Amino acid sequence: MLKLLVNPLQIVTVNTSGKNYLRGKEMEEIGVLENHSILIEDDIIKDFIPNNSINEINADQIIDIKDKTILPGLIDCHTHLVFAGSRAEEFKLKLEGIRYEEIAEKGGGINRTVKSVIDSGFEELVEISGSRIDYAISQGITTLEIKSGYGLSFQEEIKILEVINHLNKIYPVDIIPTFLGAHTYPLEFKNHHNAYIDIILNEMLPYVAKNKLAKFCDAFCESTAFSSPEVDMIFSKASELGFQTKLHTDQFNSIGGVKVGLKYNSTSLEHLEVIGDNDIKRITNSDCVAVLLPGVSFFLRYGYAPARKLIDNNSIVALSTDFNPGSSNIANLNLIMTLAALNMNMKIEETISAVTINAAKALDVNNSVGSIEIGKKADFAVIDSPEYYDIVYQVGKNLNLMTIKNGNIIYKKS
Ligand code: NIG
Ligand code: FE
Repeated sequence: MLKLLVNPLQIVTVNTSGKNYLRGKEMEEIGVLENHSILIEDDIIKDFIPNNSINEINADQIIDIKDKTILPGLIDCHTHLVFAGSRAEEFKLKLEGIRYEEIAEKGGGINRTVKSVIDSGFEELVEISGSRIDYAISQGITTLEIKSGYGLSFQEEIKILEVINHLNKIYPVDIIPTFLGAHTYPLEFKNHHNAYIDIILNEMLPYVAKNKLAKFCDAFCESTAFSSPEVDMIFSKASELGFQTKLHTDQFNSIGGVKVGLKYNSTSLEHLEVIGDNDIKRITNSDCVAVLLPGVSFFLRYGYAPARKLIDNNSIVALSTDFNPGSSNIANLNLIMTLAALNMNMKIEETISAVTINAAKALDVNNSVGSIEIGKKADFAVIDSPEYYDIVYQVGKNLNLMTIKNGNIIYKKS
């Protein structure tokens, strides 16, 4: 089946010449192509056709996107979107001056959401999370990651991973599951860290691996959660079992997470609000993606990650919503791009690279998605604007008109 996407004003290809990521200065080069249409064969991008020769193509379907802008399907590479309940009360407390870590120390925070998840059945979680995925798709998102981590027991972590895998089956987007059993200590293990780590190492990880429920193993390296030697133990076992790793680290305290993550060749290191210069150098000299989450700094009102330093030092930087009920109740990727531009001094082009090809690299799917290059999956967002600047300029506004995944229209604005 041949399809033609005709007459866009701009195609933002995020061309990488087959390298499949953009590092440092390269992040500005987003390859804007004009006067061309895109030829799709089945689910794959087959060619770029000059607009004056589209008549020579015998297409089965023509999709007219006159005067709009095409971007690669967007990628939200760090979410916790399978959760139940609300943490609005904690939000109120935070506005009154109580810190996020203080709330967590008192048994709120992640453990509060764990209670709500335990009280929710499989179907209920599928339904709540499904509507969040619909919203993602309406924004032009075609690939997203979802982490477990609100179960914190064998049974509940597996339940969440099964929900994530089920969502991947019933929704037309690619959903990549990450195991985050080491999100924090469950309340009953607060003073028995080793006992909880034992469950992760000897029960959860082997089961998740055997049943192929997750691609990545993640952890939260923080003084209120897991120390770097504890993460080391977990990643050692995870790597042995064939997981790739990614790590929440340097959000509030820098306690050695970057070193441990790099020791295990982590695909990405995420948060990094308080990362130090030596660790920036370490990331820069690696292929690991720095996933920055400006929604968290905005929502919790603290300092932003040093995006400029990371990019100017030649790192591979991605952006994501970190959508979760406690630290970033933000599912809008467009808003994240604007926050990155305004508060982390990222250029508009860099924010686009950060939610396309580099976000794909953070999920190790960059060989097949993240840019509009021949041979890649036909995943696109069609933006209601003659130029790509608008996606960052129109703050919080959903400009997406049409989402195309694997060559099929999966969303059309009515
Ligand atoms: O990425 N930092 C740890 N985990 C989440 C927050 C989870 C929560 O507060 O519920 C994050 O910010
Ligand atoms: Fe997170």
